[in-house]
Amino acid sequence: MATPESTELLSLAVESVRRAATLVGEMRAAAVTSIETKSTPTDPVTEADRAAERLVVEGLAAARPGDLVLGEEGGFRPVGEKADPDAVRWLLDPIDGTVNFVYGIPAYGVSLAAEVDGTVVAGVVRNVVTGEEWTAVRGGGAWRDGKRLSGSGVTDLGRALIGTGFGYAAERRRRQAEVLVRLLPRIRDIRRIGSAALDLCAVAEGRLDAFYEQGLNAWDSAAGGLVAEEAGLLVTGLRGEPAGPGMTLVAPPSIHGELHDLLAG
Ligand code: IPD
Ligand code: CA
Repeated sequence: MATPESTELLSLAVESVRRAATLVGEMRAAAVTSIETKSTPTDPVTEADRAAERLVVEGLAAARPGDLVLGEEGGFRPVGEKADPDAVRWLLDPIDGTVNFVYGIPAYGVSLAAEVDGTVVAGVVRNVVTGEEWTAVRGGGAWRDGKRLSGSGVTDLGRALIGTGFGYAAERRRRQAEVLVRLLPRIRDIRRIGSAALDLCAVAEGRLDAFYEQGLNAWDSAAGGLVAEEAGLLVTGLRGEPAGPGMTLVAPPSIHGELHDLLAG
């Protein structure tokens, strides 16, 4: 059951994400400036990533001064700071799909989730270009623009369209390519759309049958993971582990086991 608190957190999240998405859209229209790099030379961060994060963080800090924010571009409090044990932790990706943003490919979004006692209870992802918006509150189902979502009805892995993504570090990419070699002959096809948050919502929507990626951060997957879970998908790691940096695997129960075993190799 959705609780009044999580519904309230979702409203604040939606309001924040809409403001950030408008800003990101305006900044894209005005030209992408100051592209710097982060973890590797191919991992970009732009002024828009930073400005959108600031906007959300300032809004959250004003509305709920005791909360913590873990944002991709640094948040406003160090993770692990001793806080009120009841403090809500917000997980923010100000632009998920920054490479698409830089190139003008219309698949980048703002993702924001609220976590209480280590559990994500509310989340929203908005595609900046299309304006599509996915929301979920734990126990309250997954929704896109008033439509309840239930994932795909696929039962045969051989017919499954599977989304994935690759990290920015060369060594991780080599391992990810090896997994792909095993998988590709066994499925319908692969999509690498370039925004994990949007991929997870696409699985909730049934636009992808399943998704997996190694190396995702909490801000990439928190909101979209809840949307997928609430749409009835299994969201797991490998070998009984929860979803996390090791692996985020999202699939309907009908193909989850087989896909899991292929990924676990
Ligand atoms: C990236 C995207 C991409 C995924 C990478 C993420 P960013 O996030 O979600 O699809 O494959 O692992 O880092 O850098 O665009 O925020
Ligand atoms: Ca991201």
